[in-house]
Amino acid sequence: MSLNLSLLQAHPAHVDADAVIAAVFEDGSLSASAQQLNEASSGLIRTLIERGDVSGKLGRNALLLAPAGIRAPRVLLVGVGEAGKLDAARYLRAATETLQALRNGPVARVHSTLPQLEVIGRDMAWKLRQAALAAMRVAYTYNTTKKSSKPSNLAALSLAGDEEHDDALRIASGIADGMNLARELGNLPPNICTPVYLAEQARHIAEAHANVSLQVLEPEQMRELGMGALLAVGQGSVNPPRLIVLRYEGTAPKVKPQVLVGKGITFDTGGISIKPGPSMDEMKFDMCGAASVLGTFLSAVRLGLRINLIAIAAAAENMPDGNSYRPGDVLTSMSGKTIEVLNTDAEGRLVLCDALTYAQGFEPETLIDVATLTGACVVALGKHAHGLMSRDDALADELIRAGEISHDRAWRLPVWDDYQPMLDSASADMANIGGKSAGAITAACFLARFTENQTRWAHLDIAGTAWDEGRKGMATGRPVGLLVEWLMGKQQN
Ligand code: BES
Ligand code: MN
Ligand code: ZN
Repeated sequence: MSLNLSLLQAHPAHVDADAVIAAVFEDGSLSASAQQLNEASSGLIRTLIERGDVSGKLGRNALLLAPAGIRAPRVLLVGVGEAGKLDAARYLRAATETLQALRNGPVARVHSTLPQLEVIGRDMAWKLRQAALAAMRVAYTYNTTKKSSKPSNLAALSLAGDEEHDDALRIASGIADGMNLARELGNLPPNICTPVYLAEQARHIAEAHANVSLQVLEPEQMRELGMGALLAVGQGSVNPPRLIVLRYEGTAPKVKPQVLVGKGITFDTGGISIKPGPSMDEMKFDMCGAASVLGTFLSAVRLGLRINLIAIAAAAENMPDGNSYRPGDVLTSMSGKTIEVLNTDAEGRLVLCDALTYAQGFEPETLIDVATLTGACVVALGKHAHGLMSRDDALADELIRAGEISHDRAWRLPVWDDYQPMLDSASADMANIGGKSAGAITAACFLARFTENQTRWAHLDIAGTAWDEGRKGMATGRPVGLLVEWLMGKQQN
């Protein structure tokens, strides 16, 4: 359900909404808006704090019903901890949890005063954009195959801020469009979201926008191009692979494109090196790299970014079958390099290596791949940071910075050549796995062998960040936030 966003500069006690959100601090002091609400209600908020009904502790919420002297029938007070310590993470938590508290109730129109809070190191445009994004994230529910799931009642959100910041809302909705596409594709079950389905979704994007074109490679064309690695991964499935290529021309054709490549394994059984049963269903999320690349592309187009952008999704299904590729097989990639398969479950790097070779034909300014690539990355960084691997320090810094700004953060691991011998093979130019240690890094080292001529290349391992733990909110839509932020900085003037 789409959420109507607006800016509103008004006395919080006079706002016509179903609920007004305001913050209180741990020491019992009130934010400026809470102070105004307190005065209008003859000291109600102070009284409730003194009685212990309302707390400013981080994460505490209290809903006041029918407060006298306030036009809105509800005031939601949220504790944001110590006044001087409100950082981006705490602010986002308050913005998200307040709306989660309201989303399944009768409240449709909300006014939030949270953007008026001082947030360490962040300006008004950031606070408005992130509050809007948090709201759109809360408003999204997956209900495509689950009609009973309760949709959100939230219909409109006004944020305390003046109209000069209108652009913050425009940017937020552009980003949310891409994030929601990424989430929806990730959440769809693997019997619906197949490689062909992903290609159809890309076609919808291309058909809806004048400056977007689409090319979809089928197995026959992949064979002509010599994509032996991508083809091998897909050959055990009745759902044939697709290489999906979306192009957006947002600036002069002579400007080199930014190229994003996503891992699109629509289901990863592990193949002949089959995975254990528990949680195997989560491997429907193994196309989240591709989904995030398509989502980022949609955001860039909707925002009309002045860049040239190419999004490539390497889509295949990794299944065990009489026709599957097997451990011991030697594959010839599009680059001509040969690969000994030692484990068919290390399939992501195989679809990516051919996609990366193909991508370099576009002479990218920067080439970034995004993939749910390794369990080792989840072990190293958990659910919060993407693994970032690049041999280009300047590019790594740009991406880390974009992650900080968007609060969609990445943490760097090395791609030193010292790790390369771990991929040595007796029968091919390289093996597809590296051994027990440093699994996230050896996967990146494998990809690095296919991007030798592309200095500005980076790899984002999103195995830990693409979907929620316990799958509460399911697919997160990350790293669309990071990538759109980074792309906004690449615009030509
Ligand atoms: N898609 C998985 C990685 C993964 C695992 C993502 C768990 C998210 C959660 C990938 O294809 C895979 O199976 N990787 C193997 C590589 C190994 C065989 C070298 C892994 O991480 O175990
Ligand atoms: Mn795998
Ligand atoms: Zn996989």
